[in-house]
Amino acid sequence: MAENETPKPEQSPSVEGEDVENESGDVVDPWTVTSKSAKGVDYDKLITRFGSQKIEPELLQRMEKVTGKPLHHLLKREIFFSQRDLSQILDSYEQGKPFFLYTGRGPSSEAMHLGHLIPFIFTKYLQDTFDVPLVIQMTDDEKFLWRDLSIEEAHRLAYENAKDIIACGFDIKKTFIFSDIDYIGSSSDFYMNMLRIQRCVTFSQVRAIFGFNDSDSIGKISFPAIQAAPSFSNSFPQIFGGKTDIACLIPCAIDQDPYFRMTRDAAPKLGYPKPALIHSQFFPALQGAQTKMSASDPTSSIFLTDSDADIKTKIEKYAYSGGGATVEEHREKGGDCEIDISYQYLKFFMEDDEKLQQLKQDYTSGKLLTGELKKVLIDTLQPLIRKHREKRAEVTNEIVKEFMTPRKLDFDYSK
Ligand code: TRP
Repeated sequence: MAENETPKPEQSPSVEGEDVENESGDVVDPWTVTSKSAKGVDYDKLITRFGSQKIEPELLQRMEKVTGKPLHHLLKREIFFSQRDLSQILDSYEQGKPFFLYTGRGPSSEAMHLGHLIPFIFTKYLQDTFDVPLVIQMTDDEKFLWRDLSIEEAHRLAYENAKDIIACGFDIKKTFIFSDIDYIGSSSDFYMNMLRIQRCVTFSQVRAIFGFNDSDSIGKISFPAIQAAPSFSNSFPQIFGGKTDIACLIPCAIDQDPYFRMTRDAAPKLGYPKPALIHSQFFPALQGAQTKMSASDPTSSIFLTDSDADIKTKIEKYAYSGGGATVEEHREKGGDCEIDISYQYLKFFMEDDEKLQQLKQDYTSGKLLTGELKKVLIDTLQPLIRKHREKRAEVTNEIVKEFMTPRKLDFDYSK
């Protein structure tokens, strides 16, 4: 299908690009996520604006059936809530045809925060469930172009962040992590795909999709081709033996969708399959869902390097409460889980469905106080982050090197 990915109204020349606010006051693009509502971004409206599909219960049932494995809580709780062509991926899987996973990270800071873990925790579940190869792009080049960072520093951060990613438990035989700076410099196949993409996307298209303007550097303007290229299997001949037609599924937060709308537009022109997508909601800042966690604002985030004491203080001090102003008011009217950050975080990280449901009921009724809910969150996050730190400490430079060496993966692409 060669239809354009972007829904019609967005192609109107009067629309500046994706960084405009929609009528609900939300701004969502790869660089900014803000909302005027305490509940955060209106995700139903976003789906309509971006032209993706909601993940319907039938699709989830099918996924459970096809894989024969229980659904991840991030799917059941609709945190991964939107998709493009996910059912085609399930079709291929059912027919025994291989596909691969692609995700990435822009290494802009030494310390990753909790929100950064979400796509990787979910990708690890997908890798375990489908038993497929995975490529992880570290866009050190992107962060050099957008941030006040030297190339050397961005490149170093790619390797530092790779340790946190590896600590999520990816299968070393099935996972290739690469720094753009290193891999593009060594792979003519990847570069050839970048060129093919660059030739078929115009400045006016990227301006409409990303909101670029005349004062943006040409580095930024051409960068989207670099994030698009890993969607195509022949960018990795060492893994896929030069095959061009292996289907790709990209788990990502929905702010990355503009890159892949562009990719999906370009794919048929190049004779490649369009990558499928599965999108997550954002991980809210401690202060409330009007913004997502930001690594540049330490009080908005819980970092993977935070000590037990840091975690406790941050949650007690900053986590926005949906509870009543006084204990009396709270007992009487109850709390609002939709805006309560402690509850929202538990939705991401507490695996036990029944326990979570009970907390929701008790908080909504006023039986459970904000301080008590915060305590549950602290008790959930402290061991989780402690475990992450321990796993990260076990990731040696040799292990990082192995993950980041272009090599054959344990995968039969001859099918
Ligand atoms: N641009 C992303 C970021 O800044 C990194 C990235 C590259 C990515 N490729 C991706 C994210 C694919 C998700 C899926 O974090």
